[in-house]
Amino acid sequence: MAKRVLGVLFVCFFLGGWFSEVAEAIRWLSLQHSHLNWNLTSLNSNNPGRAVRSGVKSPCTIARRRYGLVKIQAKLCRSQMDIMPYIQNAALLASRTCRDVFKDRRWNCSSITTAPYLTPDLTRATREQAYVYAISSAALTFAVARACSSGSLHRCTCASKPSSTPAINFQWGGCGDNIRWAAQFAKRFIDSVEKHALERVDRKRRGREAVDEVWGLTNQAAAINLHNNRVGRKLISTNLRIQCKCHGVSGSCNVKTCWKGIPTMAEIGQKLLQKFTVAKELARAYLENRGKKLRKYVASDQLVYISKSPDYCTRDEKLGSLGTVGRHCNVSSSGLDSCRQLCCGRGYRTVVEEKIERCLCKFFDCCYVKCKICRTMTQVHECL
Ligand SMILES: *[C@@H]1O[C@H](CO)[C@@H](O)[C@H](O)[C@H]1NC(C)=O
Ligand SMILES: *[C@@H]1O[C@H](CO)[C@@H](O)[C@H](O)[C@H]1NC(C)=O
Ligand SMILES: *[C@@H]1O[C@H](CO)[C@@H](O)[C@H](O)[C@H]1NC(C)=O
Repeated sequence: MAKRVLGVLFVCFFLGGWFSEVAEAIRWLSLQHSHLNWNLTSLNSNNPGRAVRSGVKSPCTIARRRYGLVKIQAKLCRSQMDIMPYIQNAALLASRTCRDVFKDRRWNCSSITTAPYLTPDLTRATREQAYVYAISSAALTFAVARACSSGSLHRCTCASKPSSTPAINFQWGGCGDNIRWAAQFAKRFIDSVEKHALERVDRKRRGREAVDEVWGLTNQAAAINLHNNRVGRKLISTNLRIQCKCHGVSGSCNVKTCWKGIPTMAEIGQKLLQKFTVAKELARAYLENRGKKLRKYVASDQLVYISKSPDYCTRDEKLGSLGTVGRHCNVSSSGLDSCRQLCCGRGYRTVVEEKIERCLCKFFDCCYVKCKICRTMTQVHECL
C-alpha cells in the first residue's frame, strides 16, 4: 500500500513539474492582447528580414519576446506575415468563445486571458486544458479558412468543389471555406510547439538515465496535447454546412449555387463543451504503458486528460483554482450558475448595485440626440 502511494506521489511530482515543459502550445493566445502592426508595406514587403537590419523591429520578433511565440512560430510569422492578423484574431476568438461557454461555471476560463503566463489549471494536463487546446486549434483553423475564402491570403483560395454530385436543385459554386489548407496551417503553427518541446527535453536527457522517466511522461503529455489539438481541427471539418445562394429573376430560386462553409465559433464552442463533459481520463493505464500509442486508448474525436481537476470552489494557486468567492450567482436558476452550485454551499450575500445610464433618448432635427440620466437599482448575488 505504502509503495503504491509513493508511486502515485512520484508521478504527481513529475506531472506537475514536467508537463509545463510541453504546455507552451497555447502561449500564442496572448496575441489576443496585442496591438502589433502586421502591415507589410510599412516594413519591407519583399523581405521583412531586411527591415530588422535597418533598425525597425519586426513584429515577429516582438511577438516572440512578448507574446510567447516559439522559434518555429516566429519563423512562420516571418515567412507568412499576411496570416498574422488572422492568427491574432483567432487568439481573440478562442478566448472569447471559451469564456462565453464557461461563463456560468466555477471554472470560467478566465485563465485563458493570462497567456503567455499559464496557471496550473492549463498546464497539468487537465480536462480544462484539453478544452482550451481544442478550442484554440479550432479557432485558428476557423480564422484561416475564413481568410482564405475572403481572398485575403495569396497562398490559399476557396476550397475546390466537393467531389460529391450535388442534389438536383443546385450546383456547386461560390466559395467554399478552405478547411484543408487552414487545418494544415493550424497544425503547423500549433503542433510544432510540442515537437520543439520534446526535442528540448531530449537534449537534456542525453547522457542522463534518470531523465528517461521524465522524457517518457513528457512525450505522453505532448501526445495528449497533439491529440486534443486534432480534435479541435477535426470538429470544424466534420461540421461543414452546405450554404447556398439563389439566382434568378426577382427572388425566384431557379438556379442555386452552394458551397460548404464552416460552422460558427459559438457552435464549435458548444460542441466542444459536450466533448468536455465526456472527456476521457487517461491516468494509469496509459502512463504505465509507455510506448503504447494514444489512439489505442481513445477515439479520434474524444478529448483526453490526465490530471483530475479540483472542484474550483476554493482558491488554490497550486492547482490553478481561483475559487468562487465574489462571483455573481443567479438565484432563480437551478443550473450551474445557481447560487447553490456556484457558491459551493457557502451561501451568498445580496448587494444592491446602482447603475447610471443614458436613457429615454430623443432625436432632435436630424442629428442631435438628447438623453436623460437614469439610475436603476439591481440586485446582485455574490458568493461568500
Ligand atoms: C500600411 O502602411 C502603409 C505605409 O505605412 C500605409 O500607406 C497603408 O495604408 C497601410 N495599410 C494598412 C492596411 O493599414
Ligand atoms: C471568472 O472567475 C473569476 C474567479 O472566480 C472571477 O474573478 C471573474 O470575475 C469571473 N468572470 C466572469 C465573467 O464571471
Ligand atoms: C437566471 O436564471 C433564470 C432561469 O434559468 C434565467 O431565466 C435568467 O435569465 C438568469 N438571469 C441571469 C441574469 O442570467
